Amino acid sequence: AEPLRIALAGLGTVGAGVIRLVEANAALIARRAGRPLQITAVSARDRNKDRGVDLSRYAWVDDMVILGERDDVDVVVELVGGSDGPALALARTTFEAGKSLVTANKAMIAHHGLELAAKAEAAKVGLKFEAAVAGGIPVIKGLREGAAANEIERVYGILNGTCNFILSTMEDTGRDFGDVLAEAQAKGYAEADPAFDIEGTDAAHKLSILAAISFGSQVDFGSVDTAGITRLRAADIAQADALGYVIRLIGMADTETVDGTNRLFQRVQPHLVPFDHPLAHVDGATNAVVAEGNFSGRLLFQGAGAGDGPTASAVVADLIDLARGEIGAPFSVPVAELEAMPRAETGHRLGRSY
Ligand code: HSE
Repeated sequence: AEPLRIALAGLGTVGAGVIRLVEANAALIARRAGRPLQITAVSARDRNKDRGVDLSRYAWVDDMVILGERDDVDVVVELVGGSDGPALALARTTFEAGKSLVTANKAMIAHHGLELAAKAEAAKVGLKFEAAVAGGIPVIKGLREGAAANEIERVYGILNGTCNFILSTMEDTGRDFGDVLAEAQAKGYAEADPAFDIEGTDAAHKLSILAAISFGSQVDFGSVDTAGITRLRAADIAQADALGYVIRLIGMADTETVDGTNRLFQRVQPHLVPFDHPLAHVDGATNAVVAEGNFSGRLLFQGAGAGDGPTASAVVADLIDLARGEIGAPFSVPVAELEAMPRAETGHRLGRSY
């Protein structure tokens, strides 16, 4: 069978992981996809950086924005990051060229997901972003497909591996915030600018995507009420412990209906989580997402939320979908049918003592 030909934009932690995974599991992937995945072209800012992978078999392209226009490319994988800039330009040119896009870029989907999904739908190509939310956990597919028959009443979870690594490590070792953050950066969990992690922005990006998938609503990053963990100290963790709680950065979304209008309530903030709640036992760079479906009951998705292998696993799962011809609507319904939900007026201030 004809291979699915892939261009890779961005060769950081995740990009190198995708190359390693596509090579290591090539035979298995080809069987399951019905045809081989073949990386044909790559692009990144710095050509000479040592990434521990052999790039000599791929065409090197200096201008990543035109990757989708190449004749030897069927799908572009965008791993550059950033809500705008080259990533967004690349997404637009890829759809203009009639090619599909797979991305791990939660910031871009949170800000421009509707525009991009509309472009993908118009071009009858795929836009897939499993890797944008919760790293290796197939939570987009799980909610969009596995829980498709349900009304989702609430979706919440631990959506930032860096924050969870910091909180759980401080809890276990009493180490300093800054010191543990530096370790999360060294392990490749943190964003290029770790302020996105510790101020809650990254979790808010992911929550806005999960809410759209769960409720069939338009992505609305701007209405996420967001607080991070920058003000947390060891003393907060010790006091929570004395009361029977751990502290976790939780993103939570639900809806309410006021005068016949559905309203969306999304927030990210440190929560006190009781020792006997499953989220209290989620440690390290792990993510966990809970969704409450009206027929499925409570679903718990848990796994590595960051890092090269897990995130590459989600990227390649999307590529396998495309190789099988499963394009689908990027969100749970076509873009034109996503409901515009105004922000819920009031929010509880649960746990907001930090
Ligand atoms: N910086 C993110 C995190 C990476 O720590 O969860 C995965 O999106």
